[in-house]
Amino acid sequence: SDPLRLGIAGLGTVGAGVVKIVRQKAAMLETRSGRRIEVVAVSARNRDKDRGVSLTQYAWEDDPVTLATRDDVDIYIELMGGSDGPAKASVEAALKAGKDVVTANKALLAHHGQALAELAEANGAVLRFEAAVAGGIPCIKALTEGLAGNDITRVMGVMNGTCNYILTRMEATGQGYNALFDEADKLGFLEADPNLDVGGIDAGHKLALLSSIAFGTQVDFDAVELEGIQRVSIDDIRQAADMGYRIKLLGVARMTGRGLEQSMAPCLVPANSALGQLEGGTNMVVIEGDQVGQVVLRGAGAGEGPTASAVMGDVMDIARGLRMTTFGQPAATLEKSVAAQAAVA
Ligand code: NDP
Ligand code: HSE
Repeated sequence: SDPLRLGIAGLGTVGAGVVKIVRQKAAMLETRSGRRIEVVAVSARNRDKDRGVSLTQYAWEDDPVTLATRDDVDIYIELMGGSDGPAKASVEAALKAGKDVVTANKALLAHHGQALAELAEANGAVLRFEAAVAGGIPCIKALTEGLAGNDITRVMGVMNGTCNYILTRMEATGQGYNALFDEADKLGFLEADPNLDVGGIDAGHKLALLSSIAFGTQVDFDAVELEGIQRVSIDDIRQAADMGYRIKLLGVARMTGRGLEQSMAPCLVPANSALGQLEGGTNMVVIEGDQVGQVVLRGAGAGEGPTASAVMGDVMDIARGLRMTTFGQPAATLEKSVAAQAAVA
C-alpha cells in the first residue's frame, strides 16, 4: 500500500521525539500498521538549530500553513503550541484541505476543539489528540475504546507534571515553588508560558478535554473552576503531612444534579492512596464507569519520549484505517445536553 506521509510543524521537545521514533522504528511501525510511515516535510522557526536528529532528507517549510496543505502530506502533525496564531491557522488549513491532523496542543483544543472537530467532520478528516491529555498515558483511547460500553460517572486525576514535580520537591527540600522552577525547566515539562502550568490552566485545559470525551459534551474550558499552586506554602504541605495527607493539584469532573462540574485545584489526598503516592512529573488519571468500576492509569505525563509515544499512537490508528476523531462521536451531534444528562445522573 501507499506510504503514510507526515508533515510535522514544531521540532522542539515533542516534535524531535516524533521524528526520532519514525526514523528509528520504521520497520516495526510498518509491520504493526501495514503501511510505511515517513516524514516528508517539517517546519519550525529556526532552520539552523540542532535538534539531535538529522532533518536533511525532509522538505523544509518556513510557514506551517504551507506545510499543512502540501499535496504530499497525508497527516499534519501540529507540535508548536499556542491556543491561536500559527497552530490554529495551520490546523484549520489542514482540515479544510481534508488532511488528517494529530496534535498535542491542549490549549488550542480547550479553546477551539468543538469548532475544529466540526471542521474535520465537514471535510472528512480525522482530528486526534491523545498526547494533549496526560502525555504518555493513553487515557483518551481508554475512554473512547476500552470503556466505550460504560456510562462514565467521574473522571479525575493529576494531569500537570510540572505542578506535581514542584509540589513533591517542595515537600522534599523545604524550598518554595519559585526556587524549584529551574529544576522543572530542565525536565522539558514547562509550557512556553509557565504561568499556564503553575496557574492550573494547562491542567484545566486537559480536564476540559477529558471530561468532554467522558460525558459526551462540548469542550467547556470556561466552566472549569481553577486554582493554581502559587499559594500553596511549605507550611500547608507540612501541616498536611502531619495529618497523613499530601497536597496534589487534582482535577475532578462529574455529572451532578446541577450539571457537569469540573474543578482543578490543590486538594488534600491521603498520603497512602494511589494519588497520594504520585511523585515527580508522574500523572494519574482515574476513570469511573458504571460497569467497570474504577480504572487507574498512571505514567509519564510529559517529556519527549512519553509525549511522542502518544502522538505516534494516533498516527498508527490512522495508518490502520481508524477514521474516528478523538472525541469518539460525531462533532455535530455533541450536544451541550448537560441538563438532560444530569437528570439521568
Ligand atoms: P517546544 O517549545 O519544545 O517546541 C515548540 C516548537 O515549535 C519549536 O520547534 C519551535 O521552533 C516551533 N514553533 C513555535 N512557533 C512556531 C511558528 N510560529 N512557526 C513554526 N514553528 C514554530 O514545545 P514542546 O515540544 O514542549 O510542546 C509542543 C506542543 O506539545 C505544545 O502544544 C505543548 O503544550 C504540547 N505538549 C508538550 C509536552 C511536553 O512534555 N513538552 C507534553 C504534552 C503536550 P524553534 O525550535 O525553531 O524555536
Ligand atoms: N507542561 C505540561 C506538564 C506538559 O507539565 O504536564 C505536558 O502536558
